[in-house]
Amino acid sequence: MTQGRFIALEGGEGAGKSTQARLLADALRIRGFDVVTTREPGGTPGAEAIRALLLNGVEGDGGESWNPRAEALLFAAARSDHVHRLIRPALARGAWVICDRYLDSSRAYQGGGGGLSDADIATLHDIGSDGLLPDLTLLVEVSPAIAVQRLALRDTEGSDRIGGRDAGYHARVASAFSAFADEEPARFARIDGDGDPQATHALVVAALARFLP
Ligand code: TMP
Repeated sequence: MTQGRFIALEGGEGAGKSTQARLLADALRIRGFDVVTTREPGGTPGAEAIRALLLNGVEGDGGESWNPRAEALLFAAARSDHVHRLIRPALARGAWVICDRYLDSSRAYQGGGGGLSDADIATLHDIGSDGLLPDLTLLVEVSPAIAVQRLALRDTEGSDRIGGRDAGYHARVASAFSAFADEEPARFARIDGDGDPQATHALVVAALARFLP
Protein backbone atom coordinates (compact mmCIF):
# COMPACT_ATOMS: atom_id res chain seq x y z
CA MET A 1 0.00 0.00 0.00
CA THR A 2 1.34 3.46 -0.86
CA GLN A 3 1.39 6.03 1.89
CA GLY A 4 -1.31 8.65 1.50
CA ARG A 5 -0.75 12.28 2.38
CA PHE A 6 -3.06 14.85 3.83
CA ILE A 7 -2.73 18.20 2.03
CA ALA A 8 -4.78 21.29 2.89
CA LEU A 9 -5.16 24.41 0.78
CA GLU A 10 -5.73 27.64 2.64
CA GLY A 11 -6.09 31.32 1.88
CA GLY A 12 -8.55 34.17 1.77
CA GLU A 13 -11.58 34.53 -0.50
CA GLY A 14 -10.87 34.42 -4.25
CA ALA A 15 -7.37 32.95 -3.90
CA GLY A 16 -8.07 30.15 -6.40
CA LYS A 17 -7.80 27.28 -3.87
CA SER A 18 -10.60 25.21 -5.36
CA THR A 19 -9.08 25.35 -8.85
CA GLN A 20 -5.69 24.36 -7.41
CA ALA A 21 -7.24 21.50 -5.43
CA ARG A 22 -8.76 20.15 -8.65
CA LEU A 23 -5.55 20.52 -10.68
CA LEU A 24 -3.51 18.86 -7.93
CA ALA A 25 -5.92 15.94 -7.64
CA ASP A 26 -5.79 15.41 -11.43
CA ALA A 27 -1.96 15.48 -11.39
CA LEU A 28 -1.82 12.93 -8.56
CA ARG A 29 -4.34 10.61 -10.22
CA ILE A 30 -2.26 10.67 -13.41
CA ARG A 31 0.64 9.44 -11.24
CA GLY A 32 -1.57 6.52 -10.15
CA PHE A 33 -2.49 7.66 -6.62
CA ASP A 34 -5.86 7.11 -4.98
CA VAL A 35 -7.00 10.71 -4.32
CA VAL A 36 -9.94 12.06 -2.32
CA THR A 37 -10.83 15.73 -2.82
CA THR A 38 -12.91 17.35 -0.17
CA ARG A 39 -13.64 20.71 1.42
CA GLU A 40 -14.41 22.46 4.68
CA PRO A 41 -16.79 23.20 6.07
CA GLY A 42 -18.30 20.09 4.51
CA GLY A 43 -17.14 16.84 2.94
CA THR A 44 -19.69 14.52 4.61
CA PRO A 45 -23.49 14.81 4.62
CA GLY A 46 -23.49 15.93 8.26
CA ALA A 47 -20.75 18.51 7.73
CA GLU A 48 -22.38 19.79 4.53
CA ALA A 49 -25.58 20.38 6.53
CA ILE A 50 -23.58 22.47 9.04
CA ARG A 51 -21.93 24.28 6.08
CA ALA A 52 -25.33 25.34 4.76
CA LEU A 53 -26.23 26.74 8.19
CA LEU A 54 -22.91 28.55 8.61
CA LEU A 55 -22.80 30.12 5.16
CA ASN A 56 -26.50 30.97 4.80
CA GLY A 57 -27.29 31.86 8.41
CA VAL A 58 -30.73 31.43 9.89
CA GLU A 59 -33.63 33.41 8.54
CA GLY A 60 -35.33 35.85 10.83
CA ASP A 61 -32.60 36.36 13.45
CA GLY A 62 -31.34 39.65 12.10
CA GLY A 63 -27.99 38.84 10.53
CA GLU A 64 -25.14 37.37 12.55
CA SER A 65 -26.95 34.20 13.70
CA TRP A 66 -24.23 33.02 16.14
CA ASN A 67 -21.71 34.63 18.45
CA PRO A 68 -18.03 33.99 17.55
CA ARG A 69 -17.70 31.08 20.01
CA ALA A 70 -20.82 29.34 18.76
CA GLU A 71 -19.59 29.82 15.21
CA ALA A 72 -16.20 28.27 16.10
CA LEU A 73 -17.96 25.31 17.73
CA LEU A 74 -20.04 24.72 14.60
CA PHE A 75 -16.90 24.72 12.40
CA ALA A 76 -15.22 22.33 14.86
CA ALA A 77 -18.29 20.06 14.87
CA ALA A 78 -18.34 19.94 11.05
CA ARG A 79 -14.59 19.16 11.07
CA SER A 80 -15.03 16.38 13.63
CA ASP A 81 -17.57 14.57 11.45
CA HIS A 82 -15.40 15.12 8.37
CA VAL A 83 -12.22 13.83 10.04
CA HIS A 84 -13.83 10.74 11.54
CA ARG A 85 -16.02 9.71 8.64
CA LEU A 86 -13.95 10.70 5.62
CA ILE A 87 -10.38 11.94 6.20
CA ARG A 88 -9.07 9.29 8.62
CA PRO A 89 -10.57 6.33 6.74
CA ALA A 90 -9.14 7.64 3.44
CA LEU A 91 -5.65 8.09 4.94
CA ALA A 92 -5.89 4.65 6.55
CA ARG A 93 -6.41 3.00 3.17
CA GLY A 94 -3.40 4.87 1.71
CA ALA A 95 -5.28 7.57 -0.22
CA TRP A 96 -4.18 11.16 -0.60
CA VAL A 97 -6.64 13.66 0.85
CA ILE A 98 -6.73 17.10 -0.76
CA CYS A 99 -8.80 19.39 1.42
CA ASP A 100 -9.98 22.85 0.40
CA ARG A 101 -9.63 24.65 3.78
CA TYR A 102 -9.06 23.00 7.18
CA LEU A 103 -8.06 23.96 10.72
CA ASP A 104 -6.00 27.01 9.76
CA SER A 105 -9.17 28.60 8.35
CA SER A 106 -10.69 28.40 11.85
CA ARG A 107 -7.51 29.89 13.30
CA ALA A 108 -7.56 32.72 10.74
CA TYR A 109 -11.31 33.46 10.53
CA GLN A 110 -12.68 32.66 13.99
CA GLY A 111 -9.33 33.51 15.66
CA GLY A 112 -7.72 36.32 13.65
CA GLY A 113 -11.02 37.67 12.28
CA GLY A 114 -13.42 36.79 15.10
CA GLY A 115 -11.19 37.28 18.15
CA LEU A 116 -11.04 33.75 19.63
CA SER A 117 -7.68 32.77 21.04
CA ASP A 118 -5.52 30.31 19.16
CA ALA A 119 -5.45 28.14 22.29
CA ASP A 120 -9.25 27.90 22.32
CA ILE A 121 -9.36 26.92 18.63
CA ALA A 122 -6.70 24.26 19.33
CA THR A 123 -8.74 22.91 22.26
CA LEU A 124 -11.84 22.59 20.09
CA HIS A 125 -9.73 20.79 17.48
CA ASP A 126 -8.31 18.39 20.07
CA ILE A 127 -11.78 17.56 21.35
CA GLY A 128 -13.40 17.25 17.93
CA SER A 129 -10.66 15.81 15.73
CA ASP A 130 -7.88 14.48 18.00
CA GLY A 131 -5.75 17.39 16.81
CA LEU A 132 -5.23 15.82 13.36
CA LEU A 133 -3.03 18.08 11.19
CA PRO A 134 -2.24 17.92 7.46
CA ASP A 135 1.20 16.75 6.28
CA LEU A 136 1.45 20.08 4.45
CA THR A 137 -0.69 23.19 4.22
CA LEU A 138 -0.45 25.21 1.01
CA LEU A 139 -1.18 28.86 1.68
CA VAL A 140 -2.33 30.37 -1.62
CA GLU A 141 -1.74 34.11 -1.46
CA VAL A 142 -3.08 36.67 -3.94
CA SER A 143 -2.88 40.42 -4.04
CA PRO A 144 -6.11 42.10 -2.88
CA ALA A 145 -6.90 43.58 -6.33
CA ILE A 146 -6.75 40.14 -7.97
CA ALA A 147 -8.92 38.58 -5.25
CA VAL A 148 -11.57 41.27 -5.82
CA GLN A 149 -11.58 40.60 -9.59
CA ARG A 150 -11.93 36.84 -9.10
CA LEU A 151 -14.70 37.22 -6.54
CA ALA A 152 -16.65 39.51 -8.88
CA LEU A 153 -16.57 36.71 -11.48
CA ARG A 154 -17.38 33.94 -8.98
CA ASP A 155 -19.96 35.49 -6.62
CA THR A 156 -22.37 36.90 -9.18
CA GLU A 157 -25.26 36.25 -6.77
CA GLY A 158 -23.57 37.93 -3.80
CA SER A 159 -21.24 36.56 -1.14
CA ASP A 160 -22.09 34.25 1.75
CA ARG A 161 -22.42 35.14 5.44
CA ILE A 162 -18.66 34.99 6.11
CA GLY A 163 -17.28 36.06 2.72
CA GLY A 164 -19.50 39.16 2.95
CA ARG A 165 -17.90 40.44 6.18
CA ASP A 166 -16.16 43.82 6.02
CA ALA A 167 -12.70 44.56 4.62
CA GLY A 168 -11.23 44.92 8.13
CA TYR A 169 -12.28 41.36 9.01
CA HIS A 170 -10.73 39.97 5.83
CA ALA A 171 -7.54 41.96 6.36
CA ARG A 172 -7.21 40.36 9.84
CA VAL A 173 -7.78 36.93 8.27
CA ALA A 174 -5.05 37.54 5.66
CA SER A 175 -2.52 38.75 8.21
CA ALA A 176 -3.32 35.79 10.49
CA PHE A 177 -2.65 33.32 7.65
CA SER A 178 0.59 35.08 6.85
CA ALA A 179 1.70 34.97 10.50
CA PHE A 180 0.93 31.21 10.73
CA ALA A 181 3.11 30.50 7.69
CA ASP A 182 5.94 32.57 9.19
CA GLU A 183 5.65 30.80 12.54
CA GLU A 184 5.61 27.25 11.14
CA PRO A 185 7.60 27.18 7.90
CA ALA A 186 7.87 23.37 7.98
CA ARG A 187 4.09 22.89 8.08
CA PHE A 188 3.25 25.56 5.48
CA ALA A 189 4.28 26.24 1.90
CA ARG A 190 3.45 29.73 0.62
CA ILE A 191 2.17 29.69 -2.95
CA ASP A 192 2.02 32.84 -5.07
CA GLY A 193 -1.50 32.66 -6.52
CA ASP A 194 -1.40 35.82 -8.66
CA GLY A 195 -0.44 34.01 -11.87
CA ASP A 196 -2.66 31.94 -14.14
CA PRO A 197 -3.90 28.57 -12.81
CA GLN A 198 -1.21 26.50 -14.57
CA ALA A 199 1.61 28.71 -13.27
CA THR A 200 0.24 28.41 -9.74
CA HIS A 201 -0.21 24.65 -10.18
CA ALA A 202 3.50 24.31 -11.06
CA LEU A 203 4.35 26.02 -7.75
CA VAL A 204 2.02 23.63 -5.91
CA VAL A 205 3.65 20.55 -7.47
CA ALA A 206 7.11 21.91 -6.64
CA ALA A 207 6.05 22.44 -3.01
CA LEU A 208 4.99 18.77 -2.82
CA ALA A 209 8.18 17.40 -4.40
CA ARG A 210 9.37 15.74 -1.20
CA PHE A 211 6.22 13.58 -1.07
CA LEU A 212 6.36 12.47 -4.71
CA PRO A 213 8.34 9.49 -6.03
P1 TMP B 1 -15.40 28.55 0.83
O1 TMP B 1 -14.73 27.28 1.23
O2 TMP B 1 -16.37 28.34 -0.26
O3 TMP B 1 -14.45 29.67 0.63
O4 TMP B 1 -16.38 29.01 2.01
C1 TMP B 1 -16.15 28.75 3.27
C2 TMP B 1 -16.24 30.00 4.10
O5 TMP B 1 -16.16 29.62 5.46
C3 TMP B 1 -15.12 30.99 3.85
O6 TMP B 1 -15.62 32.32 4.00
C4 TMP B 1 -14.17 30.71 5.00
C5 TMP B 1 -15.08 30.27 6.10
N1 TMP B 1 -14.46 29.34 7.06
C6 TMP B 1 -14.31 29.74 8.37
O7 TMP B 1 -14.65 30.87 8.71
N2 TMP B 1 -13.75 28.87 9.26
C7 TMP B 1 -13.39 27.61 8.93
O8 TMP B 1 -12.89 26.84 9.77
C8 TMP B 1 -13.57 27.20 7.56
C9 TMP B 1 -13.17 25.82 7.14
C10 TMP B 1 -14.11 28.09 6.66
